[in-house]
Amino acid sequence: MNYLGIEKTKTDKTVKELNQLLACHHVYYQNLRNFHWNVQGENFFALHAQFEALYQDARTQIDAIAERILTLRHRPMSNMSDYLDASMVDEAGNVKDDRKMVSITLDNHKRIIECMRNVLDAAENAGDEGTNDLISGFLGDIEKKSWMLDAWLSHHREPVAA
Ligand SMILES: [Fe+2]
Repeated sequence: MNYLGIEKTKTDKTVKELNQLLACHHVYYQNLRNFHWNVQGENFFALHAQFEALYQDARTQIDAIAERILTLRHRPMSNMSDYLDASMVDEAGNVKDDRKMVSITLDNHKRIIECMRNVLDAAENAGDEGTNDLISGFLGDIEKKSWMLDAWLSHHREPVAA
């Protein structure tokens, strides 16, 4: 049953953007786990906890994004290889410097914010207020977290490229 009252063709573009956001979130999530595990040094306790808080929020958002795609009567991208292909966020690899970890996280946020804006544009075109409401909340949240990371970095000199 078409309970949405939105033509399927109009949700196609929104779903494409939501799937890209889902892919970005998965790589971002794993980058945060990487940093949570591998962070060392004088900022260990603060950053170990902060990376965990960020990945817990990312995990919640991943589920909400996937279930929004299902609500729109489409299938969420579900394979890791597909996420890696579609993601605008790159895998972090082996990072040793804690400041570099925060800097990479902030860069990941920048890409996710771009993905979220793409979803919002598509949803607005489709008259899809439900998607708009969900992603607008996530956007404000990640913008605020980005401010906090940027504030932290302003007192911890960024290293030159790893
Ligand atoms: Fe842990």
